[in-house]
Amino acid sequence: MSQITIALTKGRIEKDTIKLLSRAGFDLSFMADKGRNLIFESPDSRFRFLLVKGPDVTTYVRHGVADLGIVGKDILFEHPTGYLEMLDLNFGLCKFSLASVPSYDPHDHKRKRIATKYPTVATDYFNQKGEDVEIISIQGSVEISPVLGLADAIVDIVETGHTLSANGLLVFEDICRGSARLIANQASLKNNPDLMPFVAKIESLVGRREVAFK
Ligand code: PRP
Repeated sequence: MSQITIALTKGRIEKDTIKLLSRAGFDLSFMADKGRNLIFESPDSRFRFLLVKGPDVTTYVRHGVADLGIVGKDILFEHPTGYLEMLDLNFGLCKFSLASVPSYDPHDHKRKRIATKYPTVATDYFNQKGEDVEIISIQGSVEISPVLGLADAIVDIVETGHTLSANGLLVFEDICRGSARLIANQASLKNNPDLMPFVAKIESLVGRREVAFK
């Protein structure tokens, strides 16, 4: 049997990813006391798990270092090529929203500065509206940028809405939704016969769902 390497996303969707893999019959107790470790091998050596940042999940899968990856659709919107999107896993649900301070007026005719970790999503959104904006790319804690005057508004993902309200921001428009996805390296799917049965097993747990926003 060939080993299967799966790149997992650190952070927001990590807990639910581990839950899903546990439901699939994996005893992931070897990951419980993970400390600072980032590579884990199952005791029978059939599986290897890499714990990396979302954008890097797509990179490891694209280069064939990982056969599979579990990553949020928000990341896939920004890194759309080099892998096959196999399943919508139906957790890590979030939406993309346009948000700002209450005094923001989306309809005034000034050219807006929009801060975001998702420049592709933000650019597509404003292009569709026919609105010319300045996109300011930022790496995180985007919610403080309108408060501090760096930007007029933000395009960001909202899950519980707590970060927005903690920073005094309101949603002005919802843009689209996202959730965690299973992605695969195309050559791995062809060459590793153990991969499709694994994907089928995951699919039987999450149900067949149309992959939205493909
Ligand atoms: C994401 C997102 C929001 C927050 C939304 O940030 O960019 O800041 O989560 O979640 P909430 O609606 O449940 O509050 P992340 O945790 O990835 O941190 P970052 O902004 O530092 O990247």
